[in-house]
Amino acid sequence: MASFNRTTLPDNVRTNGATPNPWWANAVVYQIYPRSFQDTNGDGFGDLKGITSRLDYLADLGVDVLWLSPVYKSPQDDNGYDISDYQDIDPLFGTLDDMDELLAEAHKRGIKIVMDLVVNHTSDEHAWFEASKDKNDPHADWYWWRPARPGFEPGTPGAEPNQWGSYFGGSAWEYVPERGEYYFHQFSKKQPDLNWENPAVRRAVYDMMNWWLDRGVDGFRMDVITLISKRIDPAGRLPGEPGSEIADGPVGEEGYSNPNPFCADGPRQDEFLAEMRREVFDGRDGFLTVGEAPGINAQRNEHITDPANGELDMLFLFEHVDCDCDGIKWKPRALDLPALKRIMAGYQTAVAKAGWASLFSGNHDQPRVVSRWGDDSSEENRVRSAKALGLMLHMHRGTPYVYQGEELGMTNAHFTRLDQYRDLETLNAYRQRVEEAKVQSAESIMAGFAARSRDNARTPMQWDASTYAGFTAPDAASEPWISVNPNCAAINAAAEFDDPDSVYGFYKRLIALRHANPVVAAGSWELIDSDDEHVYAFVRTLGDERLLTVVNLSGRTVDLPAESAALLGAVAGDAGEVAADAIVISTYDADHAAASITSGALAPWEGVVVRL
Ligand code: GLC
Ligand code: CA
Repeated sequence: MASFNRTTLPDNVRTNGATPNPWWANAVVYQIYPRSFQDTNGDGFGDLKGITSRLDYLADLGVDVLWLSPVYKSPQDDNGYDISDYQDIDPLFGTLDDMDELLAEAHKRGIKIVMDLVVNHTSDEHAWFEASKDKNDPHADWYWWRPARPGFEPGTPGAEPNQWGSYFGGSAWEYVPERGEYYFHQFSKKQPDLNWENPAVRRAVYDMMNWWLDRGVDGFRMDVITLISKRIDPAGRLPGEPGSEIADGPVGEEGYSNPNPFCADGPRQDEFLAEMRREVFDGRDGFLTVGEAPGINAQRNEHITDPANGELDMLFLFEHVDCDCDGIKWKPRALDLPALKRIMAGYQTAVAKAGWASLFSGNHDQPRVVSRWGDDSSEENRVRSAKALGLMLHMHRGTPYVYQGEELGMTNAHFTRLDQYRDLETLNAYRQRVEEAKVQSAESIMAGFAARSRDNARTPMQWDASTYAGFTAPDAASEPWISVNPNCAAINAAAEFDDPDSVYGFYKRLIALRHANPVVAAGSWELIDSDDEHVYAFVRTLGDERLLTVVNLSGRTVDLPAESAALLGAVAGDAGEVAADAIVISTYDADHAAASITSGALAPWEGVVVRL
C-alpha cells in the first residue's frame, strides 16, 4: 500500500504545468534522530531495530517519508555527522541487515526512507583522509591541505594558512605533522572538508549515492550541501592565503574570521548539484532530495529547486530560525512576529511560480519550537501553543517536516548544569567564549544554552511515563546517553496516542488535511495583516477554493486584525455567525472557533482555518 498522493493535485504545483507533479508535493516528512529515538539492546543509544519497532506509530501519524540522521560508521564526534565509512552502518545503530529490514518494513507500510548525506566533509578517521596524509597517495588532493605561512614554525600560533575559525570553535585549520601541512575543517577538527574541486572526490561520492539508491533508499537529505564549493583565486588559493587575490574577512571577537562568506553558495554550487543530479538521479524516480542550505536566500532557493535547472527538489533555509538572536547564537532575543512573517513570506513568494519550499520549525540542531516560540510554562499553554505553531507551519505551501517528538509537543531539556550537555558545539562554545576569549559570562551563556543548545532537541523520545520514558528499558544496563526530560511523566506518546485533543491528535489531523486537500498542498499563498504583532494570517487559493488561516501566536486574547476580520465578516454574512462547517481545522473545538470569529477575538494561542 503506497500512502503517497492520496489525492490528485492540479498540474501546476511547482511549474505551472510544465512537468507532472512530483510524488512528494503533498507528502509530510518525519525526521528521526536515531541515537535518541528507540533503544532495543539496553546500551542507552537508539538503534535501527528501534526505528523498525516504531513504524506502526509513524504509519498511524500518517507521515510519508522518514529522514534518518546519519547511521553510517562514525567515531561519533558530532553524533554521526563525521562519517568514517559511507557504506556501512555504525555498530552503535546495528548492521546493514538491520537497515535492509527497516527499508523493507517501511516500504511495506508505504513509508519511504531518506538518508542523511554528509559529503561536505568526512571523519578524519575515514580511509580517504588517512590516505590523504601521504603527499604521494592518489588521495593527496582529496582535502584542503595547505602549508604553514612562510616565516612561521608549522603548528605554532599564527602559522595557519588564513584566519578562518571553525563553526564549532577554534581555528578552522589543523596541523598534521606527518604531512607537514594543515587541513581545513569548517566544523570540528574531526570533520575535514572534502575538496570538491577534485573530480575523483565527486565520482566517489556519486558512486556511493548510487550504491544506496540501488539498495532501496528513497533519497537524501544533504548536510550543509551549499558549503561544498569554496571561493578560490585563479591559482587555487583560498581567501587570505599568502599571495591570494581574495582578501580574508574581518576577525571577530573570538580572534577568527568567518569562512562562511567564502564557502556558502560558492561559484561552482549549481554546477556540482546539476552534475550530481545527472550522475545519480537521472533515470530514477520516486526519490526525494532536500539540501540543507546555509547561506542561500529565497531567490537562490527558487533557482536551485526549479526543475528546469535539474539540481535539488527542495532546500532548508535558515533565516527564519536565525531571526531570534543577535547574530550570536548564544545571545537569544524575543521573537519579533512581523519579522518572522516577512521572512516566511519571502520564502513563499520566491517559489510561487517555480521551485519548492520545505517547511520546518525544528530539527536536531534547533531548540524545541514549543519552548522557543510557544509557552511550555504550563501544561495548558504548552498544548495550546504547540498546536498553534503546528497549524501555522503546516498551512503554508511546501513540504512540512516534523521533527521527532514535535508531534507530542516535546519541550526543551531545561538543563541547568554544563555537565548535562553532550553536544560538542555547546561544550566548545563554553570553553571558547567563557574560558578562553572571555567574551561572555558563564551565567549568560548558560541561559543561551538553555534556549538554543542543540541538545534541547536531542533528549530521548518520550514514549511513555516509565523511567527512561520507554526510550530504553527501565532496568537497562546503561542509562540513556543524554538524560530523559523528567516531564515525560506527563508528555509522552502513550498518553497522547488515543486522545484526539492531544498535540499528537492535532498533528495527525494536520497531516491528513494536507493529503486530502489540494489547496493545502498546492494553493497559492498570500500574507495578510503583515504588521500585526500577535496574529499570523494568510490566505490560500486554488481555483474556487480559498482558505483563511488565522493564528494567535500569543498567550493573550487578541482582536482579529483588520484584513482577517473583513474576510471573516463576509463569511459570517448578515447573521454575523460562522457556521461550524466552514471551519476546516482549529486548535480549540469548532464551536469555540466559530464563537471566537463571531465575537471578533481569538483566545490565547487560538488558531483556525476557515473556508472563505
Ligand atoms: C549540519 C548538521 C549538524 C552538523 C553539521 C556538520 O548542520 O545538521 O548537526 O553538526 O552539519 O555536519
Ligand atoms: Ca541501542
